[in-house]
Amino acid sequence: MTQKRRPSSARWLAEHESDPYVQEARRLGYRSRAVFKLKEIQEKDKILRPGQIVVDLGAAPGGWSQYARPLLGAKGQLFALDILPFDPIPAVDIIVGDFREDAVLHQLEAKVGDLSVDVVLSDMAPNLSGVDAADQAGSIHLCELALEFAKAHLKPRGTLLVKAFQGEGFDAYLKVMREAFETVSIRKPKASRARSSEVYLLARNFRAV
Ligand SMILES: C[S@@+](CC[C@H](N)C(=O)[O-])C[C@H]1O[C@@H](n2cnc3c(N)ncnc32)[C@H](O)[C@@H]1O
Repeated sequence: MTQKRRPSSARWLAEHESDPYVQEARRLGYRSRAVFKLKEIQEKDKILRPGQIVVDLGAAPGGWSQYARPLLGAKGQLFALDILPFDPIPAVDIIVGDFREDAVLHQLEAKVGDLSVDVVLSDMAPNLSGVDAADQAGSIHLCELALEFAKAHLKPRGTLLVKAFQGEGFDAYLKVMREAFETVSIRKPKASRARSSEVYLLARNFRAV
């Protein structure tokens, strides 16, 4: 297994501070630069609409939920889950826990209840260990759990947007996604760093059986 070379924390901080997306997120009061990834996908693909039931997995610190909530209107609902605690967002139902644990999944399922979910978002990414193979496996595992949740709770023709890293297991995951949804498109928003193998898989029209 190879060790990933990481930028020094001083270099990371300098890069972070000069990042236009970081600056724009601060200016607009968003908690993360990640918001611009969802915004670009929303502007192109219009996945979020008023009245929808939406689940945001890997939601902390809350940028995607902050952006998504107003788009859902008064009749919409948003459930947001993360292993890390994060500050409340008005009208967002937050669950704190590890999505890999059954007890946490059941907590989310208890809140969602019988509602059919319109959109599952997952920006989950494991804490990087620096060991590529382990990080890749951890990420694909989270993608698989998001897909399992989507299959169990999405309404027919529902949408799943999931972050995945290209590498071992990616093609197999894409294949399983394509069996469950009519279309799967790969999105690489501008705010996603070019050097990162991260992409977003947008699966639409869930084939509920
Ligand atoms: C890139 S961040 C999400 C940023 C978020 N979309 C935003 O806009 O603020 C990835 C998140 O996935 C979460 N995560 C990683 N593993 C998780 C797990 N097993 N269960 C729940 N959340 C997890 C991390 O804690 C982290 O907050």
